Amino acid sequence: MTERFPSPASILITGASSGIGAALAMEFAAPGIRLALTGRDEARLAGVAGACRNAAAEPRVAVLDVREREALGAWITEIDRAAPLDLVIANAGISAGLGGDGETGDQARRIFATNLDGVVNTVLPAVDCMRPRGRGQVAMVSSLAGFRGFPGAPAYSASKAAVRIWGEALRGDLHGAGIGVSVICPGYVKSPMTAVNDFPMPLLMDAERAARIIRRGLARNRSRIAFPWPLYAAVWLISALPPALTDPLLRRLPKKT
Ligand SMILES: NC(=O)c1ccc[n+]([C@@H]2O[C@H](COP(=O)([O-])OP(=O)(O)OC[C@H]3O[C@@H](n4cnc5c(N)ncnc54)[C@H](OP(=O)(O)O)[C@@H]3O)[C@@H](O)[C@H]2O)c1
Repeated sequence: MTERFPSPASILITGASSGIGAALAMEFAAPGIRLALTGRDEARLAGVAGACRNAAAEPRVAVLDVREREALGAWITEIDRAAPLDLVIANAGISAGLGGDGETGDQARRIFATNLDGVVNTVLPAVDCMRPRGRGQVAMVSSLAGFRGFPGAPAYSASKAAVRIWGEALRGDLHGAGIGVSVICPGYVKSPMTAVNDFPMPLLMDAERAARIIRRGLARNRSRIAFPWPLYAAVWLISALPPALTDPLLRRLPKKT
């Protein structure tokens, strides 16, 4: 039977300084819950920690770049020693605009370094901490954009596809070790990342609602937490159809400027 993780008490979240990560911190914030929160913006991170403290949670923050493998790994290990981690959410990520001549090499490398290497740099040290205990849960934030290569976001959709497939494979690999792995695939969520989009975003939802959906899915140890379902069904269908049919449609989708 699939194990459930109904009430994590020690939780680490990357990219907790805004958007979905901040909303997740608040969603889990409750008396006695230990939250380890990281991001790069110290002031925003302190604001989120303050709000969690007001909910009687016990936040600890660190200003870190997820691309810095050693520093991040050392911090995760330190947090785990102080409060053995029940749940680690690799959420930090970036997207980029495609104005002018399209995605540059620098943009693509930055996106892969943050969205893919950053997730690897978070998940592997977390698994190392959890494995000897034979219990724990890791979650990786992918995207509905990770089901198909989208011309409006080449490196972004590729980075999210890699995270999704890696997470699915790790789930099977770590099952015997008692570690749950969930891949989170949101559609459009209101956050600084989407605030810059000047095109219609179907079924755009609040970060708070997204955080509630994610928390429910994690408690049930869902393999894939994909939402909202109509958009999930649409990308699933697009990814199942032959590219010759879907390419003309996808070429017409708006791009982030
Ligand atoms: N919003 C959506 O519609 C949507 C949909 C699907 C998936 N997602 C994914 O959800 C995750 C959260 O996105 P969001 O919408 O909440 O965007 P957001 O508000 O821009 O938040 C991104 C978070 O990632 C952190 N971050 C970015 N680069 C980092 C780095 N190099 N090192 C450490 N932290 C870094 C940011 O921290 P600082 O600001 O402090 O640097 C921030 O806390 C991302 O992985 C994103 O791809 C979002």
